[in-house]
Amino acid sequence: TTVWVLNGPNLGRLGRRQPEIYGRTTYAELVELCRAWGEELGLAVETRQTNHEGELLDWLNEAADAQIPVVLNAAAWTHSSMALYDACAQLTAPLVEVHISDPTQRPEAFRHTSYVEPYATRTIAGQGIEGYRLALESLVSR
Ligand code: DQA
Repeated sequence: TTVWVLNGPNLGRLGRRQPEIYGRTTYAELVELCRAWGEELGLAVETRQTNHEGELLDWLNEAADAQIPVVLNAAAWTHSSMALYDACAQLTAPLVEVHISDPTQRPEAFRHTSYVEPYATRTIAGQGIEGYRLALESLVSR
């Protein structure tokens, strides 16, 4: 099974961006970890990141057409994008929402709303990079 791990804005700077919140694992390391975790689970994992909202919407539309399961860390768009909400609504394969931190426990009120969650089969937050592994596992155990 092919699975897409899609990452939104600023996650390409993982490891350098606010490491006290997001940890020191780099984005390149995350890509390799997801590939290796997928291999253990029998999944062909393709990890992508974009800072351009339309690109993420295009990927979600493609995933909808091809019925590809998606692990999604939409980063700040999680809290802001109704277009993302609409894109997630059409998915028929499983959608697992991941956040490295737990947005619901952070001080900014805007982080307490997720436009992904209503359509997510599961939300995994606050588990660090490990959350991506848990997300991939949850796709297999379904
Ligand atoms: C995040 C949480 C979001 O609130 C934030 O905008 C991010 C990353 C996380 O993985 O913890 O960029 O999605």
